[in-house]
Amino acid sequence: MAQYGKASYWDDRYTKDPEPFDWYQRYDGIKDILGTYIKKEDQILMSGAGNSRLSEDMATDGYRSLFNIDISKVVVEQMVAKTGDRMGFEWKQMDATSLDFADENFDAVVDKALMDSLLCGEGSTANVNKMCAEVSRVLKPKGVYIVISYGIPDNRLSYLENKDFNWSVTVKTVRKFRAPRHAVPLHVVCCCGTGLTTTITTTTSRGLWSRRRWFDCLVLNRWVLCCAIGWILD
Ligand SMILES: C[S@@+](CC[C@H](N)C(=O)[O-])C[C@H]1O[C@@H](n2cnc3c(N)ncnc32)[C@H](O)[C@@H]1O
Repeated sequence: MAQYGKASYWDDRYTKDPEPFDWYQRYDGIKDILGTYIKKEDQILMSGAGNSRLSEDMATDGYRSLFNIDISKVVVEQMVAKTGDRMGFEWKQMDATSLDFADENFDAVVDKALMDSLLCGEGSTANVNKMCAEVSRVLKPKGVYIVISYGIPDNRLSYLENKDFNWSVTVKTVRKFRAPRHAVPLHVVCCCGTGLTTTITTTTSRGLWSRRRWFDCLVLNRWVLCCAIGWILD
């Protein structure tokens, strides 16, 4: 979907469908991970915020400073109209690959499905590299970049483990709300930062995916065996 990286695509989509929509996960699904890395008083940048309810749910849970940006003018206008006077909330149309913020401005940058969108657009490698460089620039020295993504993380790690940023990356997984059978049943959360000290056990989606496939094979083989025995006994 090459258009996922284009403002015009998102403007059009939000004009046609202004209803709130959360990609991948609602706040409840990632609340514990966010709470491990982000303090309630931290300055948070929600990058590519769209019309997700994540910022509002975080504010309701006590996070005090959420700066939301999106490349789509349409969604920014809609969200300003909806949440504009909420304390600790700001909205601005901005391109995540060229941030209009001073260096070392935020304690945390949260990216839910934005990196994935850029990866689906034209010039994806250059754009994701630019975005990560901007995140690294605007994060305070002990800040954290949290990327919520889908699928196997290796491709995202090739960007996040860039030595220029000097980030340690911890990969965590979150179960999808409704995983279709045979789909990878997890979302991936990459927690990146220079000042990270927490080490948490990682379950890679690849490991879980292969365990699930082995289980499916076992079930299938038992079914074939039963059919064969039934056929012989007939
Ligand atoms: C897949 S949606 C995710 C929306 C929201 N974060 C969520 O989790 O539901 C991607 C969002 O990123 C925005 N976007 C795409 N490219 C962008 C860019 N270069 N800078 C800022 N936002 C961008 C789109 O307008 C869209 O709202």
